[in-house]
Amino acid sequence: MTDLNQKKERDQWGSKLGFIFAAAGSAVGLGNLWKFPYLAGQNGGGVFVVIYLGLVLLIGFTLMMAELVLGRNTQLSPVGAFRKIKQKWAWVGGIGVLASFLIVTYYSVIGGWIIKYIVSALTGAFNTTDLGTLESVFVNFIGAPVEPLIYHGIFMLITLGIVMGGISGGIEKASKILMPGLFIMMVVLMVRSITLPGAMAGVEYLLKPDFSKLNMGVVVSALGQVFFSLSLGMGVMVTYGSYLPKDENLVESSLIIPALDTIIALLAGLTILPAVFALGFDPSGGPGLLFITLPGVFAKMPFGSFFAVLFFVLVLFAAVTSSISLLEAAVSLTVDQFKWERKKATIGLGILAFLIGVPSSLANGPVLGNMTFIAGTNFFDSMGIITDNLLLPLAALTLSIFVGWVWGTDKAVAEATNGGKVKFALAKTWSIAIKYVAPIAIGYILISGLIPLFK
Ligand code: PHE
Repeated sequence: MTDLNQKKERDQWGSKLGFIFAAAGSAVGLGNLWKFPYLAGQNGGGVFVVIYLGLVLLIGFTLMMAELVLGRNTQLSPVGAFRKIKQKWAWVGGIGVLASFLIVTYYSVIGGWIIKYIVSALTGAFNTTDLGTLESVFVNFIGAPVEPLIYHGIFMLITLGIVMGGISGGIEKASKILMPGLFIMMVVLMVRSITLPGAMAGVEYLLKPDFSKLNMGVVVSALGQVFFSLSLGMGVMVTYGSYLPKDENLVESSLIIPALDTIIALLAGLTILPAVFALGFDPSGGPGLLFITLPGVFAKMPFGSFFAVLFFVLVLFAAVTSSISLLEAAVSLTVDQFKWERKKATIGLGILAFLIGVPSSLANGPVLGNMTFIAGTNFFDSMGIITDNLLLPLAALTLSIFVGWVWGTDKAVAEATNGGKVKFALAKTWSIAIKYVAPIAIGYILISGLIPLFK
């Protein structure tokens, strides 16, 4: 009886399109707009892109389906979902949710930087092309003790406000406005970028693979990026899948979401790198590409401040639709397991995430900058290491073993095809991929991500 009642009360996506926008919104984020272009820039351009595309098909699609299927089958957030199938595996769901909760603490710090950059672009603060100046503007801002915390707080409030509204009324509504908006701005910016004189060198750099640059390092960064960018391994897609109705076509959704995410990553690459090339900057600028190099690029462009504002608003849209999914995983867990009210859970967890984010922000400046945690890095980088090198691959590994071996591919395929009603031509290939290919590949990145920490 209680079970039935619970199902009735559980929120659901209002429409198929709404779910796709929300899930693609989770996937499309700083991973696409900030990390993908700089990783491509650092890892040989085209060769990174080709490996990335291959891994999205092989591993990204496979795990996306595993997560959505698990969530929809159990109609529960991760811990409950694993527990319902096999009691002893509940902790696996816990790792994922812990990962997403820890990520949102520093994702929000970076989200705050984006808001600050919108303000700076509006006030014309970046009117210089000198990278040294732009770098010190950035470093001084993120290292300040108070200002970045205010922006971090604003970003967290936006996230919290949307999550509080629930699935169909909050997350879906916001995503339906933010995602199409993002796409339109992205296309405008890409056209601007590739029509700059000299931009073709950047397009070529991104699309023409030079296989002499291929090495294991490229593969490992590409695979790590696949997980992060597709929001996999964190229980987020299990959670989003749990709000799906039983007649939803999961085979289709598992293909559409990675496809949209990949298109946006490529568009981001095609927006940023051609402009960087055309205006004579270095593509391998690393994490500073977005905050240091790009303002320089805009300063050199006609109507640069307009495009700068447009660009950072777009990044903010993308970051918000991701952070809401990160917070939602933890909120959903508290609502399902501890029967908290959604409002109370969202506010409580939002405040906690803000507080844990504070040392991440302070680690970029004199207050906590000299304090080291893991492998000689500061608090901010250590959080990144814990989530990216340890928790994410561990959660993804255990998830693929769970679905492939404990729950069983037959049951998973039955759920994916709505009991045989939906066509899934690749069911056999998918089963092999989730049982063998995914665990081996993920195990490999887990080990290769941990080894350098002990050196
Ligand atoms: N996929 C998001 C991005 O690319 C980040 C994210 C990771 C969001 C995990 C949710 C879960 O920025």
